[in-house]
Amino acid sequence: MAANHDGNAARHQEWYDMDIEEVNLEIRHLLENYSKVPPTEVVKHVNKIRADGFAANPYPCIGHYRFLNLTLLTHPLYDSILMRLKSNPNSIYLDLGCCFGQDLRQLVYDGVPSSQLTGLDIEGPLMSLGYQLFLDQETLDSRFLVANIFKGESQGEPWTGLLATGADIIHCSAFFHLFPLQEQIEAAKIIGKLVRKNGMIVGRQSGSVKPAEVPAIKPGSTSFRHDVSTLAEMWNKVGEETGTKWKVEGSLDQVGIKSKTTSAVEDENSRRLLFTITREE
Ligand SMILES: C[S@@+](CC[C@H](N)C(=O)[O-])C[C@H]1O[C@@H](n2cnc3c(N)ncnc32)[C@H](O)[C@@H]1O
Repeated sequence: MAANHDGNAARHQEWYDMDIEEVNLEIRHLLENYSKVPPTEVVKHVNKIRADGFAANPYPCIGHYRFLNLTLLTHPLYDSILMRLKSNPNSIYLDLGCCFGQDLRQLVYDGVPSSQLTGLDIEGPLMSLGYQLFLDQETLDSRFLVANIFKGESQGEPWTGLLATGADIIHCSAFFHLFPLQEQIEAAKIIGKLVRKNGMIVGRQSGSVKPAEVPAIKPGSTSFRHDVSTLAEMWNKVGEETGTKWKVEGSLDQVGIKSKTTSAVEDENSRRLLFTITREE
């Protein structure tokens, strides 16, 4: 791997990887064919956007280049999600905590009309960087909304507009794991209201074979890492408290998990948790 050359001390945090020399095949394909980035420019382009994004918001998912992982593409339901969105022009996809919006772009590349897709994040600058990463500000007809998930409808628009339409598919990746369990429950109750009947929340997050609160990035706070059964317990509780019913499916694997020695946020119990949470009532 190449070294960082800019000498900016703020970049050398524990979750800021060295600049990369190659990207994964899927994101290269998307950047070359959707964004029309020349093949020889892809790596340089990605490193520049990563540096700008980290300067704006130093999340591990940016420092570790996780925005290059098209996670939705690896979800077992990707093809059926694609078909559901393509076959019904009234179906709505919402990406909560979308950051750069890479999964949304993959759906557009795979043929979903971009007007059916909405991204939402608390950080407007990250969504703006998404346009710079994918070079599609002039062509993409998706909406990108700035809102705080925890404030829900109390913040008025744009949340109340989302609430009015609801969504069939909510992608919510690397979001819940940022927070302690009690806050995850609060977020789930708010997000759950956006899901249409038979709609689903899908995504990935940091999980664990030993579910527990672990120290979070923010000093003094924790985040809860689930396995499938604790995730199901959480959504049972959400259902009981909101008069809804949810089916939780998921799996733990080691895709993209870094070793303890190369990551400040993962340990030997860490796993990737892929999940599907379907609203039954
Ligand atoms: C760890 S990143 C994950 C980004 C993306 N979903 C992915 O999988 O690559 C978490 C994202 O959630 C956003 N976020 C954090 N708190 C939020 C909140 N309260 N409301 C909306 N977005 C939030 C952050 O700005 C960030 O873009």
